[in-house]
Amino acid sequence: MKFKITPSVDWVGKIDWELRKFHGEEYSTHRGTSYNSYLVKDEKIALIDTVWMPFAKEFVENLSKEIDLNKIDYVIANHAEMDHSGALPELMRRIPDKPVYCTANGVKSLKGHYHQNWNFQVVKTGDKLSLGKKDMVFIEAPMLHWPDSMMTYLTGDAILFSNDAFGQHIASEHMFNDLVVQSELFEEATKYYANILTPFSPLVTKKINEVIALNLPVNAICPSHGVIWRDNPLQIAERYLQWAADYQENQITIIYDTMWDGTRILAETIAKGIKQNDDQVTLKLYNIARSDINDVVTDVFKSKMILLGSPTINKGILNAMAALIDMITGLRFKNKKAAAFGCYGWSGESVKILSEHLAKAGFELVSDGLKTMWQPGDEELAKAFAFGKEIVGK
Ligand code: FEO
Repeated sequence: MKFKITPSVDWVGKIDWELRKFHGEEYSTHRGTSYNSYLVKDEKIALIDTVWMPFAKEFVENLSKEIDLNKIDYVIANHAEMDHSGALPELMRRIPDKPVYCTANGVKSLKGHYHQNWNFQVVKTGDKLSLGKKDMVFIEAPMLHWPDSMMTYLTGDAILFSNDAFGQHIASEHMFNDLVVQSELFEEATKYYANILTPFSPLVTKKINEVIALNLPVNAICPSHGVIWRDNPLQIAERYLQWAADYQENQITIIYDTMWDGTRILAETIAKGIKQNDDQVTLKLYNIARSDINDVVTDVFKSKMILLGSPTINKGILNAMAALIDMITGLRFKNKKAAAFGCYGWSGESVKILSEHLAKAGFELVSDGLKTMWQPGDEELAKAFAFGKEIVGK
């Protein structure tokens, strides 16, 4: 399967309709994904990135039907992570002497993965590789999202091959942004940013402004996952600048775990209190143990405030909540408020533990939290309602 991007650029990647978990079990891909590889034909021929290793043989086989592999002059490895470099060993087995262009960190990562001494050609920002009439211009993008990451710009066609940046995990028969359902496209692009790029937001802003300052025309942005941005391609860069600027919507997300429903009942009562005082705010509730953690993290990303609830167990908090806390600590969200709540039977440490974790994760605590004993009765429900009413004004 191939898609024509321009008369001289073809998509030659793999659409993975089946994938439901990515990065091991770390990232849910409800809509599958694609591993985008691009073949650029001028007087010289370049291949940009490959696909994940399970599809290596299929990829090389299909590529060899598109072109005599010996006619590929240059292999560009924008990023060494295995979803893009996984077919390199199979490809390089067929064309072992062809140069592989990547960053200095790319050499380290690729050698670390595959232990091969391919004909590496190290490039840095601003380096050009002539294809004849057109040039490839390399732009290093360290920590977006690995040390080795880079983008490649093709002059003439004015295409930015951005690798992971601007990507989305979507499998689609349509490879262009104007042909897919817009709400699904932006849902996946937001989820991708929230779950992968949030910690690197300052670098995102810097890199996008650096690329904009080059004043290059951009007719299309070709990421390494999902659809290609050809209709108003810079719209996704503008979104990234918004997302990188401590993004938030008028949303409060309540996330809880519960053993015998006490903390769930508190969560729902707090929600009623919030709505009583602010019927404009978007309110979402999740039982974290029954929810997809990446979808929950996406709503944390969109929220101005989060409330975390857990009952106390063994002087601690429940497992699913602990996993969420770990994840949002690593993602380093900024400019968000938070508070904790939970019920308990005898020792009652959960609210304090949650509050400490939230503060450590960079959230501004707006309350000491709400802690109630045993199952909530009328008095506890009134407290939870008042907690919700009070907290929404903070
Ligand atoms: Fe960082 Fe799509 O790999």
